[in-house]
Amino acid sequence: MTEIHEFPMARAAGCPFDPPPPLRDLQKEGPLAKVRLWDGSTPWLVTTYAEQRALLADPRVSADVTRPGYPIQAPRIGAGGTISFIMMDDPEHSRLRRMVQAQFTVRRTESLRPAVQKIVDDLIDDLLAGPNPVDLVEAFALPVPSLVICALLGVPYADHDFFQENSKTVIRRSTPPEERAAAGAGLFEYLDALMGEKLADPADDLLSKLAERVKAGEMTRQEAAQMGVLLLIAGHETTANMIALGTLALLRHPGQLALLRHNDDPRLVASAVEELLRYLNITHSGRRRVALADIEIGGQVIRAGEGMIMANDIANRDPAIFPDPDELDIRRDARRHVAFGFGVHQCLGQPLARMELQVAYRTLYRRIPSLRLAADLEQIPFKHDGQVYGVYELPVTW
Ligand code: HEM
Repeated sequence: MTEIHEFPMARAAGCPFDPPPPLRDLQKEGPLAKVRLWDGSTPWLVTTYAEQRALLADPRVSADVTRPGYPIQAPRIGAGGTISFIMMDDPEHSRLRRMVQAQFTVRRTESLRPAVQKIVDDLIDDLLAGPNPVDLVEAFALPVPSLVICALLGVPYADHDFFQENSKTVIRRSTPPEERAAAGAGLFEYLDALMGEKLADPADDLLSKLAERVKAGEMTRQEAAQMGVLLLIAGHETTANMIALGTLALLRHPGQLALLRHNDDPRLVASAVEELLRYLNITHSGRRRVALADIEIGGQVIRAGEGMIMANDIANRDPAIFPDPDELDIRRDARRHVAFGFGVHQCLGQPLARMELQVAYRTLYRRIPSLRLAADLEQIPFKHDGQVYGVYELPVTW
């Protein structure tokens, strides 16, 4: 009989950047294993890079959260306002994704670089003028992507306490279902009201572009508001965690930090961003899918209706693809990582996330060369219970 392992698994004490050790053992045993989730269901866990990419690109694999067998992350009541095209299949998924694709091209994103640089510089000015030590999450990591996504979408930044708090509630695994539903519904109502304003009085922002499509009958107002919720959450939570956790990882690897600080080559900064994405794997809950047909892969048959979880954290440490995978080496070519997923659902915002991280990492350590931790590693609260991994706080001094 196939052995069943509990999931999610815990990271080892004192190794906050590494995937849980049992994942490594499972990967050595073969590409697929069976795991048990919080609700007793037993989906497949896919641990190897090649098999994950094959499955994520397979049209017989569904991302539809409402299908029986889909491995749900945590208890939930209904979908609140949070179901969006990330949890749908084509053709619905691609119809909706196409509505915003043009806003996230590399070219469009690069045109925002000077504005992002100004946001980062202003925040560092404030940080240097403010209290020392300070929580870097609050003072820098969270405001950078929040300010950027607010400007892009046309969401008032003054409301940041409301949407940051509700986003956190939605994506925390330990949130009770009623609270998650209320936070999701709150975000939906907020975006729906904003959509009403953009329909009446359009501005030069992404939500107004969606409002135009609503007026043209290309999408419903509900779809537009749901898309706003997805972009607002995805746009700030992930990048904020990467800024803070990436900073912690670099401070713990002073040789790598020195390389980054003393080299002016933008290619090295870009390479550092890719390597940190690979190494840190903040989307540690894995890509969740369900099989639409029987699929033979890795010496097993995944039956139609069975769930699967692509554990991208261990795939990004697959020694068949990344030599010495547990070394943080910002000079390696890590661009093949699956930290942004793979296949049709691959991260829409990745050009934006990359650019924000490049600007943030490049600027922070140069402008504050003596930046260091103001707490022991053991005192730092990690987001073990988050759908996205990171730190709740990062006390720093200079
Ligand atoms: C470092 C930052 C980020 C990471 C690590 C990340 C990671 C991911 C991953 C792994 C997926 C695939 C989900 C799946 O296959 O189930 C995804 C999808 C997505 N991401 Fe990101 N993301 C980041 C930043 C952003 C930003 C800044 C935005 C936008 C504003 C964004 C918007 C999206 C959207 C809309 C999707 C759904 C795409 C689809 O289903 O077609 N992300 N992201």
